[in-house]
Amino acid sequence: MKLQRNSRLVVLTGAGVSAESGFSTFRDSGGLWEQYDVNEVASHEGWLRNPSLVLDFYNSRRAQLKDARPNAAHLAIAALEKQCRVDVITQNVDNLHERAGSTHVVHLHGELTKVRPESGLYERSGSEQEVIDVGYESVSLGDKAPNGRQLRPHIVFFGEAVPKIEEAINLVEKADVLLIVGTSLQVYPAAGLYRYAPMDTPIYVIDPKPVPLIDPRVVFIQDKASTGMEQFISQI
Ligand code: APR
Repeated sequence: MKLQRNSRLVVLTGAGVSAESGFSTFRDSGGLWEQYDVNEVASHEGWLRNPSLVLDFYNSRRAQLKDARPNAAHLAIAALEKQCRVDVITQNVDNLHERAGSTHVVHLHGELTKVRPESGLYERSGSEQEVIDVGYESVSLGDKAPNGRQLRPHIVFFGEAVPKIEEAINLVEKADVLLIVGTSLQVYPAAGLYRYAPMDTPIYVIDPKPVPLIDPRVVFIQDKASTGMEQFISQI
C-alpha cells in the first residue's frame, strides 16, 4: 500500500514512542507502574484520597517534559504530513507529537501541560472551556480555578470516562493505513481502536516486543520506534 496525497494515515501511539525521548513506559520492567502505585497517583479514588500526592506525581512529570525533546519517531510521524493527511491518536499526555510538528493530535488520556477545576465526588470529564494551560509549572493544593475549585490535572484517571474516544473511532473508521507505535494495547478503550479500521486497511505495528494483536491485517515491525519508523516509511 503506497500512501497517496489523499490517503488518510492514522497513527495510534503509546508510551513507547516517547521512550527514546527519555520517558519511562508504564509496563516495561522498571516502568512507572513499578515505581508508583497506579491507584494512588492515576485513579479518581487516589485523587479523592490524596490530591497532593497526585499533584506531585504530575508536577514531576511536567517538569521532566520541559527538558525533553521529540525523538526521531515523533519527527518522522510529523514529516509524513507532507505526503498525506496524518491524524495522531495518542495515549500519551506529553506534548512531543505537537513539538515535533504534528498538527492533528487527539489526546485520549489528557494533556500533562493542562489542568482544570475538579468537580468533586462525581467527577465529570470536564468541559474544554475550563481547561487552563500551565505549561511546565507546578500546581499545588490550594491553587484554585476561577470558579473557586481546586485545580486538578487534565488527565483521564483510571475510572474516568475517555471523552475523545468517539472522535478517535471516527478517525480509525476512515483510515487507509493504521500505524500503531509503542503501546502494549492493554488499556481500553484505546486498545480496541484497531478493530474499527476498515477490513482492507493494513495495520502496521512497531514495537520491540510482540503485542497481543491477532489480526490478518497486521504487519509487525519488531523494532524501536525511531528505526521502526524508517522501516515503515520504506514499506509505504
Ligand atoms: N520504541 C517503541 N516501543 C517501545 C519502546 C521503544 N523504544 N520501548 C518500549 N516500547 C513498547 C513496549 O514494548 C510496550 O509495548 O511500548 C509499549 C509500552 O506499553 P505501556 O508501558 O503499557 O504503555 P501504553 O501502552 O502507552 O499504556 C497505555 O496505560 O497507564 C496507562 O494512561 C496510561 O496511556 C497509558 C496507558
